[in-house]
Amino acid sequence: MPQTIIVLDFGSQYTQVIARRIREANVYSKVLPFNTKIGDIKRLRPVGIVLSGGPASVLAKGSPKPKAEIFSLGIPILGICYGLQLMGKMLGGEVKNSNHREYGRGKLKVLKKGLLFKDLPTQLTVWNSHGDCLVKMPKGFKALAQTENSNFASIEDSTRKFYGLQFHPEVEHSEKGNEIIRNFLVTICKCKCDWDMEDFTQSAIDEIKNKVGNKKVILGLSGGVDSSVAAALIHRAIGDQLTCIFVDNGLLRLNERDQVKKLFKNHIPGKLKVALAGSLFLKKLKGVTDPEKKRKIIGKTFIEVFDKEVKKLGDVDFLAQGTLYPDVIESVPIAGNPASLIKSHHNVGGLPKKMKLSLLEPLRELFKDEVRNLGRALGLTENVLMRHPFPGPGLGVRVVGSINSNNLRVLREADAIFIDELHSSGWYHKLWQAFCVFLPVRSVGVMGDERTYENVISLRAVTSSDAMTADWAELPDKLLRKVSNRIINEVKGANRVVYDISSKPPSTIEWE
Ligand code: XMP
Repeated sequence: MPQTIIVLDFGSQYTQVIARRIREANVYSKVLPFNTKIGDIKRLRPVGIVLSGGPASVLAKGSPKPKAEIFSLGIPILGICYGLQLMGKMLGGEVKNSNHREYGRGKLKVLKKGLLFKDLPTQLTVWNSHGDCLVKMPKGFKALAQTENSNFASIEDSTRKFYGLQFHPEVEHSEKGNEIIRNFLVTICKCKCDWDMEDFTQSAIDEIKNKVGNKKVILGLSGGVDSSVAAALIHRAIGDQLTCIFVDNGLLRLNERDQVKKLFKNHIPGKLKVALAGSLFLKKLKGVTDPEKKRKIIGKTFIEVFDKEVKKLGDVDFLAQGTLYPDVIESVPIAGNPASLIKSHHNVGGLPKKMKLSLLEPLRELFKDEVRNLGRALGLTENVLMRHPFPGPGLGVRVVGSINSNNLRVLREADAIFIDELHSSGWYHKLWQAFCVFLPVRSVGVMGDERTYENVISLRAVTSSDAMTADWAELPDKLLRKVSNRIINEVKGANRVVYDISSKPPSTIEWE
């Protein structure tokens, strides 16, 4: 078993970021609900425990608390924000609701470096987000640092190895936050920092084997990074108990079905079922122009087709999905119902409920770049791992207005040219996403001596780190000129190309 740090989750939006920072320091970390039984904690033989932040107040009745025995295990503990207040209160200190809510950047003054601030500056900018404040430390503690609003912004009991930080070292805006966490891991918990993605792969495989036993699993493969990595990992664990289903909804990019089949053949030597449903989707979408109606029809039809394929397979117990941490919506665990701690965002909306399947989501603790690293450890190639995101409804939300096979053809051909030129110019990997959009607008042109009256293609290329905000990319004029020339000359049905210079917000990345 690798050296393990347990992160007890009190509902902070940053809990998984803490776990991620620990993994970045090459230490294995496991997030567990705040009320995990002491026996279950001991069984993992952790070398350290982190108490996360959380939205509750330790002063409120019924606020989430860990089992008190956690403080008698002889294991180093780091309380962050709510975790510090909790430790302070449970060990006999005093917490008060402060008049000054501390939110955002603040100045931290280090009074005594101890082990937590070893080799770090004495003035740091840190990120705060708290209303309550520790006003009296428990016996045995000393203050390590203060901010304007808090005399006990960091505390330590070096004998029992208990540490607290009122601010959030895990967020990027906290200066030297990674180093503070590293000090906890290395100097205090004596971590060897020898864990890596290969180790994660092995423990994820063991976990999948334990959970699935000899039952059957299906997975909706889209060919994107997340579902491909999930498929490769699950196949490594349970082999042919996994069947992947790829639905060709007729809204895919040029040659996409063949590319997915090839990817599968080369990297995931398992069972793949391909459902050809393009004409069904097109029939249902005929004449529909409203974007929300289109999305609903595409989602519903997907479920119908997928369900039909699954029924053909007979007994299936698990639905596997490549859900990532950012897809996971956390709910607040105040009412003491740990089962409702984390709710899943279903990539394939409505499927698990309808089909009464258990979910298998082996990537749900990971961030996108970690999934890419996992994919590398599993031998997937860069062209699979570094692909731009592609939305579930596919070209259905990129043909603006009504969808028919000709509009789709024009869009497919134009899009393939744009992506091809981005690859050859070295721009593809500098972008979050790039694609063409088919506009239901016709304009006049002249080709040779002939008048043309054809559709408009808009190019969209954005930079972003998480798709929450995005900026249009400043592609070189020469590149834009080449793409435009090629589309107008090579794609029958398009005689004008425009470049979309809208950022998100207020626009969105996709047009529909
Ligand atoms: P917007 O257009 O909202 O898109 O700025 C943000 C990111 O999400 C992708 N997207 C989707 N992905 N199913 C998906 O799996 C969808 O229905 C969907 N709609 C948008 C979009 O491509 C961008 O990366």
